[in-house]
Amino acid sequence: MQQRVINIGASNQNPSDYDLIILGTPVWAHNMCSPLRSYIMAQKERFRAVAVLCTQGGSGAGKVVGDVARLCARARAIPLERRQGLSWTDPALENPL
Ligand SMILES: Cc1cc2nc3c(=O)[nH]c(=O)nc-3n(C[C@H](O)[C@H](O)[C@H](O)COP(=O)(O)O)c2cc1C
Repeated sequence: MQQRVINIGASNQNPSDYDLIILGTPVWAHNMCSPLRSYIMAQKERFRAVAVLCTQGGSGAGKVVGDVARLCARARAIPLERRQGLSWTDPALENPL
């Protein structure tokens, strides 16, 4: 599986203006999607804190969360886990990086 970096154009927001950046991706072939990889590569020096939201069809989200954390050069990122139903928990608010 290629871990491609693609051209996603320029961002008009500076991540360093924000206390927390929430990065979201579907699992694609047990990897993050290529637009997110490209965004991280372009902006990671400007991230102050990172949380990760990952959707999946069956499996791979745990690996992808770790991959995102490593690519962001963070010891850990905080997964935002989808619970049963439509509620979301945000551990980042309880455990800031
Ligand atoms: C090209 C492609 C590859 C995918 N690979 C995986 C995979 O490896 N593991 C998985 O759990 N889901 C995989 N999926 C499913 C997506 O992660 C899933 O559709 C996405 O998280 C959105 O969820 P939803 O379809 O329920 O809206 C893949 C989807 C596509 C289009």
